[in-house]
Amino acid sequence: MIETTATTRHFLGMSAAAFLRDVWQRKPLLVRNAFANFSSPLRPDDLGGLACEDFALSRLVTHDPASDRWTLRNGPFSESDFAELPESHWTLLVQDVDKWDADVAALLGPFDFLPSWRVDDVMVSYAEDGGSVGAHVDQYDVFLLQGQGRRRWQISTDAKAPKDFRGDVELKLLREFAPTHEWLLEPGDMLYLPPGVAHHGIAEGQCLTFSIGMRAPAVAEMVADFSGFLAERLNEELRYSDAGIKPARAAGEIDDAALESIGRTLQDALKVDAPTLRGWFGAFITRYRAAHEAVPRGKPMRDSEFRRRLEAGAGLQFNPWSRFAWSKALRGASLFVAGDRYDCPRRLAERLCSRRNLDPDELANLDNASHELLLALVNAGHLAVGRNRSRP
Ligand code: SIN
Ligand code: CO
Repeated sequence: MIETTATTRHFLGMSAAAFLRDVWQRKPLLVRNAFANFSSPLRPDDLGGLACEDFALSRLVTHDPASDRWTLRNGPFSESDFAELPESHWTLLVQDVDKWDADVAALLGPFDFLPSWRVDDVMVSYAEDGGSVGAHVDQYDVFLLQGQGRRRWQISTDAKAPKDFRGDVELKLLREFAPTHEWLLEPGDMLYLPPGVAHHGIAEGQCLTFSIGMRAPAVAEMVADFSGFLAERLNEELRYSDAGIKPARAAGEIDDAALESIGRTLQDALKVDAPTLRGWFGAFITRYRAAHEAVPRGKPMRDSEFRRRLEAGAGLQFNPWSRFAWSKALRGASLFVAGDRYDCPRRLAERLCSRRNLDPDELANLDNASHELLLALVNAGHLAVGRNRSRP
């Protein structure tokens, strides 16, 4: 089964448990009507406006079908860049739109069945007729939600198909692509692709597509970070040792006995207990490839002012760039925010990771520890104190 239709209960056409068991990371799935009666939370003009801002990551991909020439330009763009574009065969892509637009961020709600630290961003593309970024392979799982207009998606599930790139294009385009499946997606339809499935999406008329992309650090990145973390903690006095070795047979030889000892030393050094592993991974994944860092408040807010603002009915808002995760600890939980660890009551940790802004009602009657933690997050720039609730 590679195609299904959403039901009123299940937007993926099956329960989250069934999706994770049978589909996730394993095979593509087309879901018709995943977002019923879908109306795009963003207009193409809004996307164009965002692509003109220097804080947004944007790209323009143009294809000349006659010569099969591709051009890639990076933003920020200006209105005149758009005015000079051809009538067809171009795509504008903007990453991290969920960080700038709360309605786009709300598209992530149904994906709460995945750990939030696995979710990377919502990238939005706008294409004119024939617009495409070419046939390619991504390293990440992606949910391609059709937002406005129609897009023809072709994919190849042939694991043996060659994966080499064209040498003449800045984009990593496949030299060869023979689709095994093809669909025309309408607004609200969604195509899920696990990593490594070749795909090609071509706009049929004006077309807006939302890509909900996942985050998966390379194992090489994990090993590099983890070994750095461990190295900092290893005592200098812990050295390579070889008590009881035999006389060297030939000068310079690294013999089998030495190799065994080297292997054992490294394996022993890498062995850590669960709390250490949790501590490392929580910090690593919440700062992994962060595009923007929170800016600490110039003048830290004092506890008395914080209390006064909360009592006056202020809520707390999240910095969309600050990534939160939590893990159980001996007592309560460890809360990880953008690479830092905080002790935190478990309920509060769960609540903070839900990423729904904190209402004044929830902030009344906080215990001292929670209060202190929230103030620390405010002063670090991860939370902002919102406007006071309007009084009737
Ligand atoms: C697009 O939206 O045009 C491309 C998205 C993708 O292929 O990952
Ligand atoms: Co792709």
